[in-house]
This record gives sequence, C-alpha cells and structure tokens, in this order.
Amino acid sequence: MLYSRIAGTGSYLPEQILTNADLARRVDTSDEWIVSRTGIHSRHIAAPDEMTSDLACKASLAALESAGVAASEIDLIVVATSTPDMIFPSAACILQDKLGVHGFPAFDVQAVCAGFAYALATADQFVRGGMAKTALVVGAEVFSRILDWNDRRTCVLFGDGAGAVVLKASDEPGIIMTKLKADGRYRDILATPGGVANGEVVGTPFLHMDGQAVFRFAVKALAELASETLDAAGMTAADLDWLVPHQANVRIIESTAKHLHLSMDKVILTLAHHGNTSAASIPLALDEAARAGKFKRGEHLMLEGIGGGFAWGSALLRW
Ligand code: ACO
Repeated sequence: MLYSRIAGTGSYLPEQILTNADLARRVDTSDEWIVSRTGIHSRHIAAPDEMTSDLACKASLAALESAGVAASEIDLIVVATSTPDMIFPSAACILQDKLGVHGFPAFDVQAVCAGFAYALATADQFVRGGMAKTALVVGAEVFSRILDWNDRRTCVLFGDGAGAVVLKASDEPGIIMTKLKADGRYRDILATPGGVANGEVVGTPFLHMDGQAVFRFAVKALAELASETLDAAGMTAADLDWLVPHQANVRIIESTAKHLHLSMDKVILTLAHHGNTSAASIPLALDEAARAGKFKRGEHLMLEGIGGGFAWGSALLRW
C-alpha cells in the first residue's frame, strides 16, 4: 500500500511585529483584554510589497531544505490560501514560477482556516493514488489586508505568515487518516463577502465575524471531528502524542485538548506570537515544533483546523 509522509517542514514570518500595545494605540482595546480572551500577544504583518506567494516561497525553500529535496523533484504544488496575490493566476502557479520549476499540477485550495487540512488531504490523495511522488503543500496568508483596522473585534485576532511541508510517497504511514467537513449553512458567521465586478469592489472587502457563534461552532465541531478521526483509524485519544491545532484562540484549543484528555504540554501553541494566520497556522506550528525537536519518529500527531465556510478538517499522522 502507498502512503504519503512528511519529509520536511518550513515556515516564514514577515519581519514586522505588531504587539497588543501597538494595537491599543490604534483602537479601543488593551493587552489584558486580548490576552485573556484569545491568548494572543503579538502577530507578524507582511510588508506592503510582500505577497502571499513571497511568503509561500520562503516557507517552501525552508521545507525543501529540511526534506533534502530539490525543487526539481516536486511534482505537485497545493497552496491553501484565502488571500492570494490576485484573482488569478493561483498563488500555486506563481509560487511554481518563483521556485523555478514548471510542467506539473499546481493549484490553490480555499477553505480559510481549514485550508491546510484540505490541502494536505488533497495532496495525500494524489500521492496515494500514484499521481504525485513529491508534493509541496503550503499554507500562506496575508490576512492583514482583509482586516478593518478600525474594528477592534477582528483586527486583534489575525496575523500574516506561511508554512510548508514536503510530502513524499512512502511504503508506510505517514498520513494515516484525513477527514474533511463543510457546512455552508454557516457561511455568514465568518466571511469576507466582497467581490470584484466591473472594475469595482462589490460588497465589503473586510473580514467580519460573529465571534460567539464561531466560538460555539468551533468547540463542538473540533471535538466531534477529533473523535471521528481517531475512531476511523481504529485508535483512541490515548494513542495520541501531540495535537497541532489551528491557532485561533487558546480557549478553543484548550477545549479540544480537554475533550481528548491531552495535557496542554502535548499541544503545540504558537498563537501567542503568530496570532491567527488562517491556512498558515497549522504548518507554522508544525514547523516550529519540528525544529524545536519536539516530535520523535513514530509518534502520533493530530492536526485540526476550522474556519469560514464553515469548513473543517483533520489529519492523523505518524511522524
Ligand atoms: N478589545 C476590547 N474590547 C473588545 C474587543 C477588543 N479587541 N473586541 C470586542 N470587545 C468588546 C465588545 O465590544 C463587547 O463589548 P460590549 O459588551 O460593550 O458590547 C465585549 O468586548 C464582549 O464582546 P464579545 O464579542 O462578547 O467577546 P467574547 O468574549 O465573545 O470574545 C472573541 C470575543 C475573542 C472574538 C471570541 O468570541 C472568540 O474567540 N471567538 C472565536 C472567534 C475566532 O477564534 N475567530 C477566528 C477566526 S475563526 C477560526 O479561526 C476558527
């Protein structure tokens, strides 16, 4: 049987750091409010000339180096993003060009904060089906560009960044199980509803959110998904060594950990200094923990993400 396995990880965070104190000078908020409600202390903001594909490229080069894989060996690129450089071409095609390679499939997936779970599951299916042997899977975002910086309810939550993994075909897992879900009935509780028509922006191009509805939905959906994923793999929470969750809110993460009876020192937390980087948050957390030497070969990791759509997804893997 053919599986896919993560052979290397990489990430990139823009240079500029925006602290809660910086935000408190712009809007009516405080470090105390932001930290107690979300766990976020600071986030990175891309420079005006830095595009999603630039962030993706830096994360990808780091992932390729850690995997010991040359760009010329890649035969699939999947980029998860809701903030691509432009309407088209895709960030994945632009990334392909920036990496100096061509001739194989490259495309974006758009599942907001669940984007990396969707991209990883897609690439895993390509590898299992024999359509790719060495896939580059990236989550990259510049959410700072779709925020209303006068709206304290949302501007304190997000940051920019990118994370990437190299997935290689393998005789053994690797990725054991992925699960993807969506429920479009909840599309209005978290959205950036603007579009472009006739040379103009139609609707609002800023992110808006019903924070409490999102919170309630996320807590329930992530707990159910974690259990379903483990059940489908014939495993229990006791088999898990690490949870690498989407980094939106420490209270949502604590609730998932509690459901899994996992102590918080087995949960990778990066949101304090990344904020919510949407599709980039899981691969950023994965790379930071991998580089810190946290994961040992053979350990079991659960990745989980949820966001606008609503869309959510998981991956269970052996490191
Ligand atoms: N600073 C100070 N006060 C604020 C701020 C802020 N940044 N934002 C909101 N408030 C105020 C509100 O105006 C409100 O004041 P009022 O009572 O005078 O009207 C008060 O704080 C309480 O507002 P709530 O929205 O009820 O605050 P809540 O405790 O729900 O916390 C939060 C808000 C942090 C957004 C929470 O609902 C949450 O974490 N929701 C999940 C959202 C999330 O994680 N989104 C990320 C994207 S989705 C995803 O990735 C899963």
